[in-house]
Amino acid sequence: KAAEKGGFDHFMLKEIADQPQAIADTLLGRLTDHGIALDEVRISDQDLRDVTKVFIVACGTAYHSGMVAKYAIEHWTRIPCEVELASEFRYRDPILDSSTLVIAISQSGETMDTLMALRHAKQQKARVLAICNTNGSTIPRESDAVLYTHGGPEIAVASTKAFLTQLVACYLLGLYLAQVRGIMYADEVGAVVRQLQQTPDLLRDLLDQMDPVRKLSRDLSSARQVLFIGRHVGYPVALEGALKLKELAYMHAEGFAAGELKHGPIALIDDDTPVICVVPSPVGNAMMRDKVVSNIQEVRARGARTIVIAEEGDEGVRAYADDLIFVPRVPTLLAPLMTTVPLQILACEIATARGYDVDQPRNLAKSVTVE
Ligand code: AGP
Repeated sequence: KAAEKGGFDHFMLKEIADQPQAIADTLLGRLTDHGIALDEVRISDQDLRDVTKVFIVACGTAYHSGMVAKYAIEHWTRIPCEVELASEFRYRDPILDSSTLVIAISQSGETMDTLMALRHAKQQKARVLAICNTNGSTIPRESDAVLYTHGGPEIAVASTKAFLTQLVACYLLGLYLAQVRGIMYADEVGAVVRQLQQTPDLLRDLLDQMDPVRKLSRDLSSARQVLFIGRHVGYPVALEGALKLKELAYMHAEGFAAGELKHGPIALIDDDTPVICVVPSPVGNAMMRDKVVSNIQEVRARGARTIVIAEEGDEGVRAYADDLIFVPRVPTLLAPLMTTVPLQILACEIATARGYDVDQPRNLAKSVTVE
């Protein structure tokens, strides 16, 4: 087992460190001089052109990757896209037909809630495409097409590299749809592709700078609760950061859309409540970044300790941050590939500081095969 952990204390730490390679592997062979080639997606280009609506169904961390995918798919393809918890999908009798594309995201390919959602979609004649990490598992077998993530086996219960590779697969699929439908030209797709290709190196650099996060986690390990806020793609990142902390450190942790705070949750904040704030790029979207900075000021005024995740060079946030963690600059839609990583490390280290087994948290199974 020690050998399998590759010198790390836990599988989770190894899997966090594996992420640059996992992303590179997921991109491998799918990028050409003419854009994106997804030969394995066996839905014809004509059928993809006929799609009028996309639904994404998934659970837990995979659902968070779907939330990010919604922003990217709608932005790049202009096709309406909804993301739904797989466990809720069929009960509300969604409107589906043969021009609906349902994307089922699952690391294991065996999650029963996701499988039942996809079966329901197929019964209603929708086309189903799986994004999955496990070759030959049930969800891809029952789908019309599959786009595999090449993250390698994920052993720790808490999902890390699966999340980042799901994001990459969703980006590829969104760009491919835009390419096939003629919404984006090859050079526009190529520009995003080049930015995606740089992310493994940027992540390696980021992973080398995580000592302050480790130090911070010792400080936060006795907190009563930890709140997370973000906007746009930073919102699912906030939810993912909170989920990691709940499942590993057994702490009360909640993620909020930053703008929703003042509609209720701000009442949770008291002196020294740590609030982890995911700040958008000032270059990518200055207006959104400024809105989050005002939200940081709001929570700080109520006594919160603000832990700010911001883009390198955004010196303006320093005045509002009790703790500041910089991540490399990438385009706004790709930012979750960077901003999630400090939150994974934070949760892993806080759980360890509290004396818990991060690879096998209580009450949880790696794959949930019951509804
Ligand atoms: C995340 O850390 C979890 N262990 C969990 O939310 C997981 O992502 C969810 O159960 C979905 O699993 P799947 O990707 O295998 O379908």
